[in-house]
Amino acid sequence: MIVTVTIQKGGVGKTTLSMNLATYWHRQQKRVVLIDADPQRSSERWAARAEACLGKGVLPSVHPCADGTEIEEACERLRKSHERIVIDTPPSLTAQNSVASAIQCADLVVLPIRPSILDLDSLGDVRRLIEAESKDTPVLVVVSLARASWSATREVRHSVEKLGYPCAKTVIHERASHARAALTGSLWSLPPATRRPATGEVAALAAEIDALLAAGRQSEAA
Ligand SMILES: Nc1ncnc2c1ncn2[C@@H]1O[C@H](COP(=O)(O)OP(=O)(O)O)[C@@H](O)[C@H]1O
Ligand SMILES: [Mg+2]
Repeated sequence: MIVTVTIQKGGVGKTTLSMNLATYWHRQQKRVVLIDADPQRSSERWAARAEACLGKGVLPSVHPCADGTEIEEACERLRKSHERIVIDTPPSLTAQNSVASAIQCADLVVLPIRPSILDLDSLGDVRRLIEAESKDTPVLVVVSLARASWSATREVRHSVEKLGYPCAKTVIHERASHARAALTGSLWSLPPATRRPATGEVAALAAEIDALLAAGRQSEAA
Protein backbone atom coordinates (compact mmCIF):
# COMPACT_ATOMS: atom_id res chain seq x y z
CA MET A 1 0.00 0.00 0.00
CA ILE A 2 1.28 3.45 -0.89
CA VAL A 3 1.04 6.38 1.51
CA THR A 4 1.91 9.77 0.02
CA VAL A 5 2.74 12.57 2.45
CA THR A 6 2.19 15.90 0.75
CA ILE A 7 1.13 19.55 1.07
CA GLN A 8 2.41 22.48 -0.91
CA LYS A 9 4.12 24.12 2.06
CA GLY A 10 7.63 23.51 3.33
CA GLY A 11 8.49 23.15 6.98
CA VAL A 12 5.25 21.47 8.09
CA GLY A 13 6.87 18.15 8.97
CA LYS A 14 6.39 16.10 5.77
CA THR A 15 9.88 14.59 5.84
CA THR A 16 9.81 14.00 9.59
CA LEU A 17 6.41 12.31 9.40
CA SER A 18 7.36 10.23 6.34
CA MET A 19 10.54 9.01 7.98
CA ASN A 20 8.85 8.27 11.29
CA LEU A 21 5.95 6.34 9.74
CA ALA A 22 8.31 4.35 7.50
CA THR A 23 10.63 3.59 10.43
CA TYR A 24 7.69 2.57 12.63
CA TRP A 25 6.45 0.06 10.02
CA HIS A 26 10.02 -1.14 9.40
CA ARG A 27 10.32 -1.83 13.14
CA GLN A 28 7.01 -3.73 12.92
CA GLN A 29 8.80 -6.09 10.49
CA LYS A 30 6.86 -4.85 7.48
CA ARG A 31 8.70 -4.59 4.16
CA VAL A 32 8.95 -0.83 3.76
CA VAL A 33 10.59 1.59 1.35
CA LEU A 34 10.57 5.37 1.51
CA ILE A 35 10.53 7.15 -1.84
CA ASP A 36 12.25 10.54 -1.62
CA ALA A 37 10.60 12.66 -4.32
CA ASP A 38 11.98 15.96 -3.02
CA PRO A 39 15.00 17.30 -4.96
CA GLN A 40 16.33 18.58 -1.61
CA ARG A 41 16.83 14.90 -0.72
CA SER A 42 16.14 15.43 3.00
CA SER A 43 14.97 11.83 3.52
CA GLU A 44 17.91 10.35 1.66
CA ARG A 45 20.35 12.47 3.66
CA TRP A 46 18.56 11.57 6.89
CA ALA A 47 18.96 7.86 6.09
CA ALA A 48 22.66 8.34 5.28
CA ARG A 49 23.22 10.12 8.62
CA ALA A 50 21.34 7.37 10.42
CA GLU A 51 23.45 4.69 8.79
CA ALA A 52 26.63 6.51 9.83
CA CYS A 53 25.38 6.86 13.45
CA LEU A 54 23.42 3.65 13.96
CA GLY A 55 24.60 1.21 11.29
CA LYS A 56 22.80 -0.49 8.40
CA GLY A 57 19.22 -1.72 8.58
CA VAL A 58 17.99 0.46 11.46
CA LEU A 59 16.00 2.64 9.08
CA PRO A 60 14.02 1.49 6.02
CA SER A 61 15.69 1.89 2.66
CA VAL A 62 15.23 5.19 0.83
CA HIS A 63 14.74 5.33 -2.92
CA PRO A 64 15.25 8.74 -4.56
CA CYS A 65 13.07 9.67 -7.56
CA ALA A 66 13.76 12.67 -9.79
CA ASP A 67 10.38 13.13 -11.45
CA GLY A 68 6.86 11.81 -11.89
CA THR A 69 7.83 9.11 -14.38
CA GLU A 70 10.43 7.69 -11.98
CA ILE A 71 7.88 7.73 -9.14
CA GLU A 72 5.32 5.83 -11.20
CA GLU A 73 7.89 3.26 -12.35
CA ALA A 74 9.27 2.81 -8.82
CA CYS A 75 5.79 2.38 -7.34
CA GLU A 76 4.80 -0.20 -9.91
CA ARG A 77 7.98 -2.20 -9.29
CA LEU A 78 8.28 -1.79 -5.51
CA ARG A 79 4.65 -2.43 -4.60
CA LYS A 80 5.08 -6.09 -5.61
CA SER A 81 7.81 -6.61 -3.00
CA HIS A 82 6.87 -4.11 -0.27
CA GLU A 83 3.93 -3.90 2.13
CA ARG A 84 4.30 -0.16 2.64
CA ILE A 85 5.69 2.51 0.34
CA VAL A 86 5.84 5.98 1.88
CA ILE A 87 6.40 8.89 -0.53
CA ASP A 88 7.93 12.09 0.86
CA THR A 89 7.16 14.94 -1.54
CA PRO A 90 8.49 18.45 -2.24
CA PRO A 91 6.30 21.53 -1.79
CA SER A 92 4.11 21.07 -4.86
CA LEU A 93 4.56 24.43 -6.52
CA THR A 94 8.20 23.62 -7.17
CA ALA A 95 7.51 20.17 -8.60
CA GLN A 96 3.91 19.72 -9.75
CA ASN A 97 4.84 16.75 -11.85
CA SER A 98 6.30 14.71 -8.97
CA VAL A 99 3.48 15.57 -6.59
CA ALA A 100 0.81 14.72 -9.15
CA SER A 101 2.38 11.28 -9.74
CA ALA A 102 2.84 10.65 -6.02
CA ILE A 103 -0.87 11.44 -5.48
CA GLN A 104 -1.92 9.36 -8.45
CA CYS A 105 -0.02 6.29 -7.15
CA ALA A 106 -1.26 6.64 -3.56
CA ASP A 107 -3.70 4.41 -1.69
CA LEU A 108 -3.88 7.16 0.95
CA VAL A 109 -2.78 10.78 0.87
CA VAL A 110 -1.63 12.19 4.22
CA LEU A 111 -1.80 15.98 4.46
CA PRO A 112 0.17 17.45 7.36
CA ILE A 113 -0.77 20.99 8.41
CA ARG A 114 0.31 23.19 11.28
CA PRO A 115 -2.49 24.33 13.57
CA SER A 116 -2.84 27.67 11.83
CA ILE A 117 -5.64 29.12 9.78
CA LEU A 118 -3.06 29.97 7.11
CA ASP A 119 -2.27 26.29 6.67
CA LEU A 120 -5.95 25.53 6.08
CA ASP A 121 -5.74 27.47 2.81
CA SER A 122 -3.20 24.99 1.44
CA LEU A 123 -5.79 22.19 1.76
CA GLY A 124 -7.90 23.75 -1.01
CA ASP A 125 -4.93 23.70 -3.41
CA VAL A 126 -4.07 20.09 -2.75
CA ARG A 127 -7.75 19.12 -3.00
CA ARG A 128 -7.85 20.46 -6.56
CA LEU A 129 -4.75 18.43 -7.41
CA ILE A 130 -6.18 15.26 -5.84
CA GLU A 131 -9.46 15.71 -7.69
CA ALA A 132 -7.55 16.16 -10.95
CA GLU A 133 -5.38 13.07 -10.39
CA SER A 134 -7.51 10.48 -8.66
CA LYS A 135 -10.89 11.45 -7.28
CA ASP A 136 -11.44 8.43 -5.04
CA THR A 137 -8.16 8.33 -3.16
CA PRO A 138 -8.83 8.73 0.57
CA VAL A 139 -7.07 11.55 2.39
CA LEU A 140 -6.19 12.12 6.03
CA VAL A 141 -5.26 15.51 7.43
CA VAL A 142 -2.76 15.36 10.29
CA VAL A 143 -2.18 18.32 12.58
CA SER A 144 1.58 18.51 12.95
CA LEU A 145 3.95 20.68 15.00
CA ALA A 146 1.17 21.43 17.49
CA ARG A 147 1.90 22.98 20.85
CA ALA A 148 0.18 21.49 23.89
CA SER A 149 -1.08 24.80 25.16
CA TRP A 150 -2.70 25.89 21.91
CA SER A 151 -6.48 25.87 21.72
CA ALA A 152 -5.82 26.54 18.01
CA THR A 153 -5.27 22.80 17.48
CA ARG A 154 -8.86 22.00 18.43
CA GLU A 155 -10.23 24.85 16.34
CA VAL A 156 -8.19 23.86 13.29
CA ARG A 157 -9.28 20.22 13.56
CA HIS A 158 -12.89 21.40 13.70
CA SER A 159 -12.36 23.65 10.64
CA VAL A 160 -10.70 20.81 8.71
CA GLU A 161 -13.71 18.59 9.36
CA LYS A 162 -16.10 21.39 8.37
CA LEU A 163 -14.23 21.62 5.05
CA GLY A 164 -15.07 17.96 4.53
CA TYR A 165 -11.66 16.39 5.22
CA PRO A 166 -11.16 13.51 7.64
CA CYS A 167 -8.73 14.61 10.34
CA ALA A 168 -6.56 12.15 12.27
CA LYS A 169 -7.43 11.79 15.95
CA THR A 170 -3.71 11.69 16.64
CA VAL A 171 -2.04 15.10 16.77
CA ILE A 172 1.74 15.27 16.25
CA HIS A 173 3.11 17.73 18.79
CA GLU A 174 6.19 19.84 18.49
CA ARG A 175 8.88 18.07 20.52
CA ALA A 176 12.61 18.53 20.79
CA SER A 177 13.05 14.76 20.36
CA HIS A 178 12.09 15.09 16.66
CA ALA A 179 14.95 17.50 16.01
CA ARG A 180 17.35 15.22 17.91
CA ALA A 181 16.16 12.20 15.96
CA ALA A 182 16.87 13.94 12.66
CA LEU A 183 20.46 14.46 13.82
CA THR A 184 21.13 11.05 15.30
CA GLY A 185 19.05 8.94 12.94
CA SER A 186 15.92 7.66 14.67
CA LEU A 187 13.44 8.59 17.37
CA TRP A 188 13.64 5.00 18.56
CA SER A 189 17.37 5.29 19.28
CA LEU A 190 16.78 8.04 21.86
CA PRO A 191 16.49 7.12 25.58
CA PRO A 192 12.98 5.78 26.37
CA ALA A 193 11.91 8.68 28.58
CA THR A 194 12.86 11.16 25.84
CA ARG A 195 11.34 9.32 22.91
CA ARG A 196 8.10 7.88 24.33
CA PRO A 197 5.73 10.83 23.89
CA ALA A 198 6.81 11.19 20.25
CA THR A 199 7.00 7.47 19.38
CA GLY A 200 3.59 6.99 21.02
CA GLU A 201 2.08 9.58 18.68
CA VAL A 202 3.73 7.99 15.63
CA ALA A 203 2.43 4.55 16.65
CA ALA A 204 -1.10 5.90 17.17
CA LEU A 205 -1.08 7.66 13.80
CA ALA A 206 0.32 4.56 12.05
CA ALA A 207 -2.53 2.53 13.59
CA GLU A 208 -5.09 5.02 12.23
CA ILE A 209 -3.49 4.79 8.78
CA ASP A 210 -3.33 0.97 8.92
CA ALA A 211 -7.06 0.91 9.72
CA LEU A 212 -7.88 3.21 6.78
CA LEU A 213 -5.75 1.13 4.40
CA ALA A 214 -7.41 -2.09 5.59
CA ALA A 215 -10.88 -0.53 5.12
CA GLY A 216 -9.88 0.58 1.61
CA ARG A 217 -8.70 -2.94 0.74
CA GLN A 218 -11.96 -4.43 1.99
CA SER A 219 -14.11 -2.05 -0.05
CA GLU A 220 -11.98 -2.80 -3.15
CA ALA A 221 -12.48 -6.54 -2.62
CA ALA A 222 -16.27 -6.15 -2.18
N1 LIG B 1 6.83 17.20 15.52
C1 LIG B 1 7.92 17.98 15.42
N2 LIG B 1 8.47 18.52 16.55
C2 LIG B 1 9.56 19.32 16.47
N3 LIG B 1 10.20 19.63 15.34
C3 LIG B 1 9.70 19.12 14.19
C4 LIG B 1 8.55 18.27 14.15
N4 LIG B 1 8.29 17.93 12.88
C5 LIG B 1 9.24 18.55 12.13
N5 LIG B 1 10.08 19.25 12.91
C6 LIG B 1 11.21 20.09 12.50
O1 LIG B 1 10.66 21.10 11.64
C7 LIG B 1 11.52 21.32 10.52
C8 LIG B 1 10.76 21.04 9.22
O2 LIG B 1 10.39 19.66 9.22
P1 LIG B 1 10.41 18.80 7.89
O3 LIG B 1 9.98 17.43 8.25
O4 LIG B 1 11.71 18.97 7.18
O5 LIG B 1 9.25 19.54 7.07
P2 LIG B 1 8.94 19.53 5.49
O6 LIG B 1 9.41 18.22 4.94
O7 LIG B 1 7.45 19.70 5.40
O8 LIG B 1 9.67 20.69 4.91
C9 LIG B 1 12.74 20.43 10.73
O9 LIG B 1 13.74 21.18 11.36
C10 LIG B 1 12.22 19.32 11.65
O10 LIG B 1 13.26 18.77 12.47
MG1 LIG C 1 10.75 17.74 3.38
